[in-house]
Amino acid sequence: MDPKVQAMYDTLRAKLENIVPDVELRYKAELAVEINALKEERNAVILGHNYMEPALFYSIPDFTGDSLELSRKAAQTNKDVIVFCGVRFMAETAKILNPTKTVLLPSEKAGCSLAASITAQDVRALRARFPGVPVVTYVNTYADVKAESDICCTSSNAKAVIESLGSDTVIFLPDEYLAKNVARETGKRILFPTKDQVITFKGNQIQTAPYDPAAVAGSLIGWHGRCEVHEKFTVQDIQAVRAQFPDVTVLAHPECSPEVVAAADFSGSTNAMIRYVRESLAKRYLLLTECAMGDNIAAANPDKEMLRLCMVRCPHMNTITMEDTLAALKYNRYVIEVPEDIRQRAARAVQRMIEIG
Ligand code: 13P
Ligand code: SF4
Repeated sequence: MDPKVQAMYDTLRAKLENIVPDVELRYKAELAVEINALKEERNAVILGHNYMEPALFYSIPDFTGDSLELSRKAAQTNKDVIVFCGVRFMAETAKILNPTKTVLLPSEKAGCSLAASITAQDVRALRARFPGVPVVTYVNTYADVKAESDICCTSSNAKAVIESLGSDTVIFLPDEYLAKNVARETGKRILFPTKDQVITFKGNQIQTAPYDPAAVAGSLIGWHGRCEVHEKFTVQDIQAVRAQFPDVTVLAHPECSPEVVAAADFSGSTNAMIRYVRESLAKRYLLLTECAMGDNIAAANPDKEMLRLCMVRCPHMNTITMEDTLAALKYNRYVIEVPEDIRQRAARAVQRMIEIG
């Protein structure tokens, strides 16, 4: 075996021997060495989201993390090329922050149901309907939607971003479930004008009433977007797993419904869940998020058991492969472009978020 491939194989095996079969590790080690050589040749940086499959996650990224951490890394890089092993809205955010660099997304199909749920025109219409109310958009949106926003947020800083605005009433887009979870955390009601609903939280109780246009002040105003992955997890799933494994600690991403989050033991961004497992003494966890992240956490915590529901997968994140990452660097594809007027306005909202910390 070539010495570089041998070294990569040894690294991967040390981390993944109980998770990925040897035959795959040998194949992926060769691919990783080829990718890393091209990465150096092109003066590129590879950013890998926590949802990447384990052999990719532990071999080619210079940085791994959740969407907030990777936005920060994208803002700091001095490389000429950024390859984003994640989905389009993440690569767009990197381009927004780095207009002169080449940003590549290895798969053209890596979208996101949340980003697809809202348009720039929808945001303008909400602004017209609620004049003077600040607009926060989740980073899981496309550049033209970010451009209509005052500030962006991720699931790890949503509460801090809302609190930074000094406004009692805030438009929070587009994730219905994240908005409900943040509303509960900040003690606010949440209105859904498009669903004619007002939701109020009393502890773990959720009350629903019709929307009243005269009672908007002091509320969050939400939209009806949902993550097609996290919306599928149910309280019944949690109950079934708890019945089978009574000692299980349940972790749910805040894109899950508020009922699921209330039934879990912990909810947080992908980085927050990784940190939770690392720091907790429990031995067994159920991870309610993209299943590949369970492998990555298990590899880093060999003394802990990660249960996951792999019947639910993110079809977008899973289009990013090592083969396509190699092709991205080789053939310079798929290049992310953002029109300059949109980029400048979106950059203000993203930078403002990054500055909040
Ligand atoms: P994180 O910011 O927690 O990494 O989440 C991104 C995402 O798309 C979750 O589905
Ligand atoms: Fe989008 Fe959900 Fe996939 Fe994350 S898991 S990229 S929010 S569809």
